[in-house]
Amino acid sequence: MPTVLITGAGRGLGLEFARQFAAADWTVLAGVRDDSKAEALMRLDGDVTPVHLDVADPASVAILAERLSGVAIDLLINNAGIFGPREVPLGAIDYPAWQGVLDVNLLGPMRVTEAFLEHLRNGEGRRVVTVSSRMGSIGETSGGLYLYRSSKAAVNAAMRSLAMDLAGEGFVIAVVHPGWVRTDMGGPGAAIDAKESVTGLKRVIDELTPADNGGFFSHDGETIPW
Ligand SMILES: NC(=O)c1ccc[n+]([C@@H]2O[C@H](COP(=O)([O-])OP(=O)(O)OC[C@H]3O[C@@H](n4cnc5c(N)ncnc54)[C@H](OP(=O)(O)O)[C@@H]3O)[C@@H](O)[C@H]2O)c1
Repeated sequence: MPTVLITGAGRGLGLEFARQFAAADWTVLAGVRDDSKAEALMRLDGDVTPVHLDVADPASVAILAERLSGVAIDLLINNAGIFGPREVPLGAIDYPAWQGVLDVNLLGPMRVTEAFLEHLRNGEGRRVVTVSSRMGSIGETSGGLYLYRSSKAAVNAAMRSLAMDLAGEGFVIAVVHPGWVRTDMGGPGAAIDAKESVTGLKRVIDELTPADNGGFFSHDGETIPW
């Protein structure tokens, strides 16, 4: 059975990814930075192993990569993300908070992908999917939200470069938008639930082909402008 490593798998979209991939008979390595979140994962049916992984902590990433040395990973889902402070008006930009958002949303996916490149090379799938956001689309920007938007635009650019660099090895690197989802981040008024979002995203992931390398897709399969 193929193996997926999911970051930020203790709640929200990450937990739903773990549930749906386990139900589809994948071996799931479910990253949690807060080990108390492993309980929800232990209750899932299927082959789910919670693993400690803080994507903003280089040591945590390196320790897990070393612990899993020799393990083949077919798919990496860079799901972990933070929004940062909601109200950051011009004139009062919180630069340390911005650095924190970039550390998780931009550096995190690169850090994890780089650390697990050999595991991915050992796998047959060679897929890296990063949960970005439509808010990172420069083509669709409507202003404001500097911290979050820039972190997602930046991770889009990084993943696009990675897609070019790894295309020759048969990798497919994609970034995806989950929709506006009722999680802690999306809030109770969001448009869809995690099950609907991940059902769509899993379909997009299952259907990825080399022609999709470097693409930016919505959960409903639509291509999003950069
Ligand atoms: N919900 C939406 O409407 C929406 C829309 C567009 C994009 N997204 C993106 O979708 C992804 C998942 O979001 P969500 O809605 O599920 O958010 P969420 O409910 O707030 O969950 C965020 C997840 O990321 C984890 N995380 C945060 N910082 C981390 C770190 N340093 N290392 C490891 N894990 C970390 C959290 O772990 P802890 O439990 O330890 O905090 C949690 O599991 C994010 O990348 C987000 O930007 C969401």
